[in-house]
Amino acid sequence: MDILRNIQERIGQLAETINRHNYNYYILANPTISDYEFDMLLKELEALELQYPQFRLPDSPTMRVGGQVTKEFPPFVHIKPMLSLGNSYSEEDLIDFDSQCKKWAEGRTFGYYIEHKFDGVSMSLHYEKGLLVRAVTRGDGVRGDEITANVKTIRTIPLRLNGVNIPDFIEIRGEVMILRTDFDKWNEERVLNGEERLMNPRNATAGSLKLQNSEEVAKRPLTFFAYQVATDEANSLTDYENVLRFAEWGFKTSGNQALCKNMVEVLLYIHQWESKRYGLEYDIDGIVIKVNEIPLREMIGYTAKAPRWAIAFKYPAEKAITEIESVDFQVGRTGKVTPVANLKPVLLAGTIVKRASIHNADEIKRLDLYYGDTVYVEKGGEIIPKITGVVTEKRIASALPIMFITACPDCGTTLINPEKEVNYFCPNEQFCPPQLKGRIEHYAHRKAMNIEGLGTEIISQLVDKNLIRNYGDLYSLRYEELIHLDKFGDLSARNLLKAIDESKKIPFERVLFALGIRHVGAVAAKKLTKHFGSLEALSMATSDTLTLVKDIGETMANTIVAFFKDGKNIAVIEKLKAAGIQLSQDKSIKGTESIVSGSSLNGFSFVISGVFEHASREAIKDKITALGGEVKSGITKKTTYLLAGSDAGPAKVEKATELGVSIISEQDFLKMIQ
Ligand code: IVH
Repeated sequence: MDILRNIQERIGQLAETINRHNYNYYILANPTISDYEFDMLLKELEALELQYPQFRLPDSPTMRVGGQVTKEFPPFVHIKPMLSLGNSYSEEDLIDFDSQCKKWAEGRTFGYYIEHKFDGVSMSLHYEKGLLVRAVTRGDGVRGDEITANVKTIRTIPLRLNGVNIPDFIEIRGEVMILRTDFDKWNEERVLNGEERLMNPRNATAGSLKLQNSEEVAKRPLTFFAYQVATDEANSLTDYENVLRFAEWGFKTSGNQALCKNMVEVLLYIHQWESKRYGLEYDIDGIVIKVNEIPLREMIGYTAKAPRWAIAFKYPAEKAITEIESVDFQVGRTGKVTPVANLKPVLLAGTIVKRASIHNADEIKRLDLYYGDTVYVEKGGEIIPKITGVVTEKRIASALPIMFITACPDCGTTLINPEKEVNYFCPNEQFCPPQLKGRIEHYAHRKAMNIEGLGTEIISQLVDKNLIRNYGDLYSLRYEELIHLDKFGDLSARNLLKAIDESKKIPFERVLFALGIRHVGAVAAKKLTKHFGSLEALSMATSDTLTLVKDIGETMANTIVAFFKDGKNIAVIEKLKAAGIQLSQDKSIKGTESIVSGSSLNGFSFVISGVFEHASREAIKDKITALGGEVKSGITKKTTYLLAGSDAGPAKVEKATELGVSIISEQDFLKMIQ
């Protein structure tokens, strides 16, 4: 009994600690433990909950990891409709709004609560006795979809409201968003994995929320900003006080709200944010102005679609007029051809714009563009400005229409337009210079073969001088060839050769990622490695056997099969084989062993804690597994060593001491493997 009680207590403790760290990290942006330490706590809780599901708390932070698969999201009729907002575009519109509010308020005094209009996806959250029980999308305003499991994975949404005096039931509304930096990082990863770039954070948010597997949603960098208490009885007297309570309950608010005594102050805020909005960490599509006194709102009332006590102010999209000087057709790593207009430089939203993407052939047709056209460019939600219209009156009679090209500008191959695709592609994957340069760049990337010094410029020179035609050729490069490259000397040539040589130690799972098989990202490469163990086994897999691996879908399976069917790829792989690249998991262990003079950690089980001086935790983990050892998250009697860096978790050290597990330092470990 005592043991069970202890376990239940530990589960409670862990849940509380993890929730607190989540709050510190995601809401306060002030983490007090390392990511690794955090992961270890979470893993411990997961393991305990798996064994003792009866003790799993309804607000357990393990919900954040997801796992529930929902085939269809059930409809839910909103307790109160989710209305829209009236729009205003000028000072006059706002002054009209102000006099209307004053009229309906019949002489009572009030202020305006004003904040950013978040450009995301609106969401309604239901809390019963402080516990998050339901999350519903806006839908048509009357009826939305219940997507609770997906929403529970969003770290900035409290699973249980913090604090005292929590109402029995409360509905909170707000906006799910993706911050710009998170969005850019995600897009960078997608490009690395050969996936399409996402257009803007809002669409990416909407798509993420509707995924059927909440485990996938958990991987998306979603954030939530609360903006409204939708339950009358639970409301404070003013909106401003509501926001103070949001923060106390554990929600994130933008921190850029203001309380305005009158319309003059509102206009000042609006002017202030007109240019400042570009520096925000999230996208806004205007400013929302709301009567601050909640009891007055009912007096002021509603129209059929929107409250009369609130209005959205929309900034005019920043537009500029300029001319198209020429059009480049750029070929990307995947062969996709994108038309890019070179513009006469013009100032737009604080930056000089010289180029604008025209996206694809359909867009050229839709806009009916001619060379030399005078065009409008706008900065919308997307980072790259776009052409939104043409001043046709300014077109000269002899102007020629812009036609999409039929042959690749880099290699001359006839372009193809696959069915159901708006894009054109150059099919010459193997020899088209930007495609092969892109593939080599991916191969050399820090997260792939990590060949230091092999950047875009060098690759470009190597390909243009015909010294390499694929990544397999890297291993036969000679000093005499490198020394003649631009900006190259003795040292840089020797360093590059050394870095290329070093890449032979990279473990197979990263080699597999480096090959650049379409759709095979770092995570998939890891899973495929675990399942097949070697490139040879993988090359013999059929589409059917591949889809048996967890998370490997049909599209990826087909591209893998096609990759190994292509003789040109096989020829490159032969070169890698000859160079001694790790093409199997086992071989990678042997290979690394020989580097560290035969030492083996076979049968040793490690737990790692703290920060290390000579290598990252990932590198240490890799080394241990490469030498045949195991890395575990929690200490048990079976653990051989606790490898403790600086700031090692005190709980870990205590547990190790209690169980008689040896604690070793980084120095001890380095000695051990040498
Ligand atoms: S208050 C309509 N505040 O904009 C009831 N709404 O276009 C009052 N929105 O459906 C809503 N940021 O989803 C409010 N700071 C903010 C907002 C905001 C974004 C959304 C909201 C609403 C839509 C109307």
